Amino acid sequence: MIEIMSLNHFFDKPKRSVMKSKNLFQIAIFAFVCLALATSCVKEGPMGLAGKDGEDGLDGKDGVDGNVTCIVCHTTAFKEAVISQYNVSQHAAGAATARSTSNQCAPCHSHEGFLEVTVTGKDTTWAGVAHPSNINCETCHSSHKSFDFKKDGPDYALRTTKAVDLMLYTDPTKVLDFGNNSNLCANCHQPRNSYRVPGESGETTYSITSSRFGPHHGTQATLLEGIGGYNVAGAVSYPGTKSHPHRTAGCISCHMGDYKDGAGGHTWKPSLANCKSCHSSAGSFDLNGVQTEVEKLVADLKTALISKGVLDASGNLTKPGGKTISATNPLVLPVQQAGAYWNYMTIVEDRSEGVHNPAYIKALLKNSIQALQ
Ligand code: HEC
Ligand code: HEC
Ligand code: HEC
Ligand code: HEC
Ligand code: HEC
Ligand code: HEC
Repeated sequence: MIEIMSLNHFFDKPKRSVMKSKNLFQIAIFAFVCLALATSCVKEGPMGLAGKDGEDGLDGKDGVDGNVTCIVCHTTAFKEAVISQYNVSQHAAGAATARSTSNQCAPCHSHEGFLEVTVTGKDTTWAGVAHPSNINCETCHSSHKSFDFKKDGPDYALRTTKAVDLMLYTDPTKVLDFGNNSNLCANCHQPRNSYRVPGESGETTYSITSSRFGPHHGTQATLLEGIGGYNVAGAVSYPGTKSHPHRTAGCISCHMGDYKDGAGGHTWKPSLANCKSCHSSAGSFDLNGVQTEVEKLVADLKTALISKGVLDASGNLTKPGGKTISATNPLVLPVQQAGAYWNYMTIVEDRSEGVHNPAYIKALLKNSIQALQ
C-alpha cells in the first residue's frame, strides 16, 4: 500500500544509539507514572467554556479540500476504480504505440518518449524507443510537487501543466496556455510540425510534397484555442483566438470529471453529464444540431475539393502527372485550394464534429467552401 508505506517512511526517525533510546524509554515510563498519579489525585471540576473554532482550511483546487488527507486518493478501492476506467481507454489500448520506434513519433505515442521530452523540451526524442510502453499512470502523473496540499492544493501529481510550445509554429510567441491541467493534454493533442499552414507567409501558391499532407493527427488543442486553420477570407468572420467558452472549460471539464455511464473520469470519453453542468437541457452531444450541421459542411467541402480537382473521385489528393506526390513531384496549388484541404483535414482529424470550437470550425468550413466556388 502506497499510503501506508510512504507515511511510515515519512514518520521514520533516524536511528539513535541503543543507550540513548534506553534512557528515553526510562524517562517516558517515569513521566507516564507521574501523570497517572497526578490525574488520579485531582478531583474533576466543572467543564470549561468551549474554545474558539479553529480557522477554516484553505480550499484546494478542483473541489478537494485543502486539508485533504492522503487516503482520499490512496486507497485500493479508489485506485482500482481509476485503473478499470483507464483500462477501457484508447490511451491504454495504445493502437499506435509501436510507431515509437521512430524518434519523431515516440514523444506522444510512448510513455518513455513523453518522459524524455518533458525534460528536454524537444519535439523529438534523441533516438527511437526500441520497446515502447503504452501511455500509463506514470506518463501523466509523477510524484507530488510537494505534500503541502494546504498551500499548493492537491496537485494530483501531474507530470506537467506548463504552457505548451506549439510544434506547428516557428514563432516562439505562439505558446498555448489554457491556464489549467488541460495543458497536459495539449502536449500530445496538437498538430505535428511536418508541414507549414498554407498562407502563413502570404504566398499565392503552395507546394504539397507528400500524399500525407495535412496536420497530424490531434488537432484538438489548437482548434479549442481557435488557431491552426488557414483563415481564408470569406463571408463569415472569424471569432477571436481564445474566445470560445469551451477553451476556458478545457479538455478535462468535458472528457474527465466524474465517471458516469461508461464515460468521463479516466476513460477520457466525453460525458454528457459534464455538458449538462453548463447546458442543462442537452440531450446529446449534437446540441442545437451543431454536429449534424458540421458533418454536412465537411461533406460539402469534400465535394467542392473533388470538383476543383484537388481530390480525385475517391477522395485522395490527385497525383500530378499520374505519379505519387513527393518533393520532386509536388502538387502545386493556388493557396486557397491547399488551405481549404488543410482545413478539411484539420476538422476531420479533430473528430469532435464541431463541438471543440463551434464558431471557429463553422467559419473555417463555410469560408473554405466559398473560396472554392
Ligand atoms: C488528489 C489525489 C491525491 C492525494 C490527496 C494524495 N495523492 Fe499521492 N498520488 C496521487 C497520484 C495520482 C499519484 C501518481 C499515481 C500513482 O502512483 O498512483 C500519487 C503518487 C504518490 C506517491 C508516489 C508513489 C509511487 O509509486 O511512486 C507518493 C509517495 C504519494 N503519492 C504520497 C502521498 C501522500 C503522503 C499524500 C498525503 C500527504 C498523498 N500522496 C495525497 C494522488 C494523490
Ligand atoms: C503522452 C501523450 C498524450 C497525452 C498527455 C494525452 N493523450 Fe490522449 N491520446 C494520445 C494518443 C497517442 C492517443 C491515441 C492512442 C492510440 O491510438 O494509440 C490518445 C487518445 C485519446 C482519446 C481517444 C481518442 C479515440 O480514438 O477514441 C481521447 C478522448 C484523449 N486521448 C483525450 C486526452 C485528454 C483529455 C488528455 C489530457 C487529460 C490526453 N488525452 C492526454 C496521446 C496523449
Ligand atoms: C505531437 C504528438 C504526436 C506525434 C509527434 C505523433 N503523433 Fe500520432 N497521434 C497523436 C495523437 C494525439 C493521436 C490520436 C488523435 C486522436 O485520437 O484524435 C495520434 C494518432 C495516430 C495514429 C492513429 C490515427 C488514426 O487516424 O487512427 C497513427 C497511425 C499515428 N498517430 C502515427 C504517428 C506516426 C507514424 C508518428 C511519427 C511519424 C506520429 N504519429 C507522431 C499525437 C502524435
Ligand atoms: C492521459 C493522462 C493521465 C493518465 C494516463 C492517468 N491520469 Fe490520473 N489524472 C489525470 C488528470 C489530468 C487528472 C486531474 C483531473 C482533474 O483535474 O479533474 C487526474 C487525476 C487523478 C487522480 C485524482 C482523483 C480524481 O480522479 O480526480 C488520481 C487518484 C489519478 N488520476 C490516478 C491515476 C491512475 C491510478 C492512473 C493509471 C491507471 C492514471 N491516473 C492515469 C491524467 C491522467
Ligand atoms: C466542450 C466539451 C469538450 C472540450 C472542452 C473538449 N472536448 Fe474533445 N470532444 C468532445 C466531444 C463532444 C467529442 C465528440 C464525441 C462524439 O461525438 O462521440 C470530442 C471528441 C474528441 C476526440 C475524438 C474522440 C473520439 O472518440 O472520436 C478527442 C481525441 C478529443 N475530443 C480530445 C480533446 C482534447 C485533447 C481536448 C482539449 C484540448 C478536448 N477534447 C476538449 C467534447 C469536448
Ligand atoms: C463550462 C461550461 C460548458 C461546458 C462544460 C460545455 N459547454 Fe458547450 N458551450 C458553453 C457556452 C458558454 C457556450 C456558448 C453559448 C452557447 O452557445 O450556448 C457553448 C456553446 C456550445 C455549442 C454551440 C451551440 C450553438 O448553438 O452554436 C455546442 C454545440 C456545445 N456548446 C456543445 C457542448 C457539449 C456537447 C458539451 C459536453 C461534451 C459542452 N458543450 C460542454 C459552455 C459549456
